[in-house]
Amino acid sequence: MNDVSKANFWNECYNDNNTGWDLGKITPVFKDWVDKLDKKSKILVPGCGNGYDPLYFASLGHDVVAVDFSEIAVNNIKSKLKAEKVNLKVIKYDFFNLLDKYKKEFDYIVEYTFFCAIDPKNRDQYINITHKLLNDNGYLIGLFLPFQKKISEGGPPFAVRKNEIKKKFVKKFDLIENFSHPLSINARKENELFYKFKKK
Ligand SMILES: C[S@@+](CC[C@H](N)C(=O)[O-])C[C@H]1O[C@@H](n2cnc3c(N)ncnc32)[C@H](O)[C@@H]1O
Repeated sequence: MNDVSKANFWNECYNDNNTGWDLGKITPVFKDWVDKLDKKSKILVPGCGNGYDPLYFASLGHDVVAVDFSEIAVNNIKSKLKAEKVNLKVIKYDFFNLLDKYKKEFDYIVEYTFFCAIDPKNRDQYINITHKLLNDNGYLIGLFLPFQKKISEGGPPFAVRKNEIKKKFVKKFDLIENFSHPLSINARKENELFYKFKKK
C-alpha cells in the first residue's frame, strides 16, 4: 500500500495535481451548515487540504483551526490567507499528534475526505482523538465516503460502510443524524452520507 501515513505521499499528490478530492470551492453542504450556525464557534478541520471550508468558516468570524501535515497544502492556504485577511490558524502537524496541542477545545470538528484518506487501521484512533479534542458539548459533523467502493480496492480513498461507522463511533459518540444530503455534489450524491455525532 502507498504510505498514506506520510506527508510525502500527499505532497506528491499535490505536486502532480493528483487531487481528485479537491472541490476548488467551499463544500456546499458545509456552507449551508455554517451559514445556519447561531453562535460563533471554535471549529477544527483536520486534513484540511487546500482549505476552502476553513477559510469560509473563518470569514464568518468563527474561531477556526485547520490542520494538515502536507507543507504544500498548508502553504497553499497560507497564501490565500494573506489575500483574504481572515483569522484562521493553519497548522502543519500530524493529526495523530494533535492532543499535544489541544484537549477539549473545539465545539465542532468538520470531517471531509480525511477519514477515508487515513490508513483504515487508524480509524479507532481517529475516533478517540476527535473525541478528546472536542469540548464536552462538542459535535463531529461530516460527509463520509466512499460507500460504493469495494473494500478490496484499497485506497486512498479507503471504502467506508454504514455498519462500520456506526459500530466504531457509537463507543464515543451519540449518532444524532445521518442522511443523504440534498446539497452533496452530483458526482458524489450516491457515494456519500452526512453524519452528525455528539460527543458522549
Ligand atoms: C484526500 S485529502 C482531503 C483534503 C481536504 N479535506 C479536502 O476535502 O479537500 C487528505 C488530506 O489529509 C492530509 N493528511 C493525511 N494524513 C494526515 C495526518 N496524519 N495528519 C494531517 N494531515 C493528514 C493530507 O495531506 C491531505 O491534504
